[in-house]
Amino acid sequence: MKILVTGASGLLGLNLSLQMHTQHQIIGVDRSKLAHTPFDLIKLDLLDLDALPKLLSESKPDAVIHCAANALVDACELHPDSASTLNAVLPGRLAKLCAEREIQFLHISTDAVFDGTKEGIYNEKDEPNPLGVYAQTKLDGEIAVLEANPNAAIARVNFFGWSLSGTRSLAEFFVNNLGAAQHVNGFDDVYFCPMFVGDLADTLVGMLSKSLSGMYHVVGSRAITKYEFGQSIARQFGFDASLINPISVSDAGLKAKRSTNLRLSVNKLSTALGREIPNFSTGLAKFYTQYQQRYPQKMRGYQQVREQ
Ligand SMILES: NC(=O)c1ccc[n+]([C@@H]2O[C@H](COP(=O)([O-])OP(=O)(O)OC[C@H]3O[C@@H](n4cnc5c(N)ncnc54)[C@H](OP(=O)(O)O)[C@@H]3O)[C@@H](O)[C@H]2O)c1
Repeated sequence: MKILVTGASGLLGLNLSLQMHTQHQIIGVDRSKLAHTPFDLIKLDLLDLDALPKLLSESKPDAVIHCAANALVDACELHPDSASTLNAVLPGRLAKLCAEREIQFLHISTDAVFDGTKEGIYNEKDEPNPLGVYAQTKLDGEIAVLEANPNAAIARVNFFGWSLSGTRSLAEFFVNNLGAAQHVNGFDDVYFCPMFVGDLADTLVGMLSKSLSGMYHVVGSRAITKYEFGQSIARQFGFDASLINPISVSDAGLKAKRSTNLRLSVNKLSTALGREIPNFSTGLAKFYTQYQQRYPQKMRGYQQVREQ
């Protein structure tokens, strides 16, 4: 399959492209962060919405996985207009253009569309209620995509892995700080279902292979608190778990409100794919193996070196 991946320098886009380029033809869309990648690159600022038809007509993909977004929750609170263009208007436009060209469109959304007040596990039929600008713009993006392209698939995700900057994911936050013997806080009242980004990449491409459409929760199959997640990382890497201080998210002074229950059901996804969905602990072992194999350093080798 020829897959166009937007946000190719991002946590998801880069891991997915590096993992999939040997089995599929990957064309990554990047502003200017990457160089010498083993997959093709197209340089484009996706806020140039008029350039989108040319992007698709020149790359001629079978499918688009739309990972580009403003995914920095607190930054979205400061810049709501640009967050809305990137997270809502852009995916709607891309979805429409893909529908017109019969290109499969897989849009990446977030578990954070839910307010977390449900007692129990969220399924795809539950009503979203975003708590902040990021979550609202991502929900607006979902609506725009499905209106423009009823055959599109939407994946609400939550994942961890190694990033180009080395600081993008919660897992890296724990590794970087615990590895340097620094004390950190871990929220013991926020439940989520993290999935290893490599498992997410496999699952997303599996969704394309089965031509799935509509809404899917694409997260790990087990819920834990962010504090427990940090503890698991400490154990896996041999760090001192007592460096993690359990606190409530309400005491953290964060700009945007966070949902405390992001337990999502993966039953619909599991049935559609005909297989079990991995949980975070098998993913954590793969994350650690990548660390041992110096994958983070190798990844940083694809960073564009800027002249001073
Ligand atoms: N990380 C998570 O756990 C998580 C959880 C739930 C949902 N998600 C969703 O998953 C998706 C991927 O997230 P991520 O963590 O991989 O995000 P990320 O690491 O912040 O990457 C965002 C990507 O979007 C690109 N981008 C931003 N503005 C652009 C523009 N104007 N033109 C072209 N590219 C642009 C960035 O390029 P630059 O590098 O040039 O800025 C980067 O490649 C997003 O839809 C996010 O909402 C993520």
